[in-house]
Amino acid sequence: MSHLRDLCSRLLRFLFPSAMQHLRGLCWEVSWRRSNFAPKWSNRGVSPEIVEAMETGWLPAHGAVLDIGCGLGEVAAWFSERAYTTVAIDISKSAVRKGRMKHKHLSSPPELIVLDICAARPPDRQYGILIDRGCLHQIPREEIPNYVRNVAQVAGPSARMLLFVKAFRNGQPFGDLAERQRQISWVSKAFAGVFTFERVSETYLDRHQGRDPDTALPGLVFWLTRIPAVPQLQK
Ligand SMILES: C[S@@+](CC[C@H](N)C(=O)[O-])C[C@H]1O[C@@H](n2cnc3c(N)ncnc32)[C@H](O)[C@@H]1O
Repeated sequence: MSHLRDLCSRLLRFLFPSAMQHLRGLCWEVSWRRSNFAPKWSNRGVSPEIVEAMETGWLPAHGAVLDIGCGLGEVAAWFSERAYTTVAIDISKSAVRKGRMKHKHLSSPPELIVLDICAARPPDRQYGILIDRGCLHQIPREEIPNYVRNVAQVAGPSARMLLFVKAFRNGQPFGDLAERQRQISWVSKAFAGVFTFERVSETYLDRHQGRDPDTALPGLVFWLTRIPAVPQLQK
């Protein structure tokens, strides 16, 4: 039954790609508009991997940050508080509106913008740090090249990206090697020639960091570095 549903959904996406993308944006908007929208991944502050990447110097100490699929912009705000120039984008108008309200007390709040990362490139700036915590993994596979193209266009030379994706779900135990390999395989393929990864670490994407088995959302973090673009030869 679930195979049939999957097949139908693929067929619809193939036949009507822009309508389906519009519909997905609408679904997020409907969720974010609700005053009681509180999914397990919400309200969790910054992730330990982001703190670690900053403290070890893996992330540059200053520069421009892009938070992709920012939700309420909690990660973006964390960087803003540390004097980074931060842009945060989300497909949902309501998420952006709520995020702006939430962080307006900051002396330099992040710039929150409504943008579909598969459809348009973020503001024309070169970002040294990119964070995607939970956006890419729910974008349909056929839209991923558009996502990667738009991100690559604004990723500065040697930019660093932390990508959080869901993993070890639907019966696969945390740490399962085959599942880990599957996730590594699709991410490597998606970013081939654009980003390379030097590390993959296990994580939890829920607000209790996996401590409550009922709400645990296991995942992986990819530590990606931009591959410098090859200069075009003059003809
Ligand atoms: C799982 S939530 C994660 C939110 C936030 N990064 C966090 O960690 O709390 C995924 C977010 O991606 C946004 N999103 C989904 N598709 C998008 C797209 N094509 N372009 C930009 N944002 C998108 C959703 O509106 C949602 O806020």
